[in-house]
Formats: sequence, structure tokens, C-alpha cells
Amino acid sequence: MFDSVRLIQLPKKIDERGNLSFIEELEHIPFEIARTYWIYDVPGGEVRGGHAYRENAEFIVALSGSFDVVVNDGSQTKAFALNRSYYGLYVPAGIWRHMDNFSTNALALIAASTTYSESDYIRDFKIFQRND
Ligand code: TYD
Repeated sequence: MFDSVRLIQLPKKIDERGNLSFIEELEHIPFEIARTYWIYDVPGGEVRGGHAYRENAEFIVALSGSFDVVVNDGSQTKAFALNRSYYGLYVPAGIWRHMDNFSTNALALIAASTTYSESDYIRDFKIFQRND
């Protein structure tokens, strides 16, 4: 499970008028997109996430600025620094994660495989470890 957390490079169309990148479901990321959301205006020192999903898989891109995504599979922890808009982190279901170290004006775009459902969240790390 942990091995499937990975950085994915996105297409990058270099253009002197400004660069362009894009995501196509099932082409650049291994799931169909049911939802996109974004995290922004994060005050310095704040932490987002701190949960796992039962079903939902995500792809996280730093559209602007930078932040770290820290993942944990119940035994190991790994941190990924995101700071460019032409790659992102694929996080399958069943992985505990949080996001921290947000820069000023950081903008995190998240493509998700399911619509929002609170019952899909595991918010207690001890319960997550027991289910793992
Ligand atoms: P949550 O996922 O708990 O944020 P964090 O990134 O800190 O884990 O979501 C914060 C709140 O926003 C929570 O009340 C649920 C709500 N929410 C939605 O309504 N729809 C969504 O797609 C998401 C991601 C969150």
C-alpha cells in the first residue's frame, strides 16, 4: 500500500506566453475524478489533514507556493515536498496523511475519487492503526 504513494509528473507545455499543465482522469492519475477542492489562505504554522480515507483516493498538487504532505501507512512515515504545479502526489485510500509547512500564498489543489462523505474519514490514528 505504502509503495503506491508516489509523485506523478504532469504534462508541461512550455510557452513564452506562460506554461500550461493539465490532468486527465485515468490518463495521468489512476482514478476517475468525482470532486476537486482546494486549500488556500493557510496561516503560517497551520496543519491540514490529519486523517485517512476508507475509499477516497487523492492527487495533490501545489498550484502555487509550497507545502509538505506527510503520509503514514500505520508503521512508516514519509514526507513529500510539493512546490511545483507540474507534478503532484498520488495518495491511495487507506493512508494517513497531513499537510504542513505551508508557504505564504500556498494553493493546494486536490483531485479526489469520491464525493465528500464524512463517514469515509478515519480521524482517529489509533483506529486507523487497528484497521491497518
Ligand atoms: P477536512 O477534510 O476535515 O479538512 P482537513 O484538510 O483539515 O482534513 O474538511 C474540513 C471541513 O470541510 C469539514 O467540515 C468537511 C468540509 N468539506 C466538505 O464539505 N467537502 C469537501 O470536499 C471537503 C474536503 C471538506
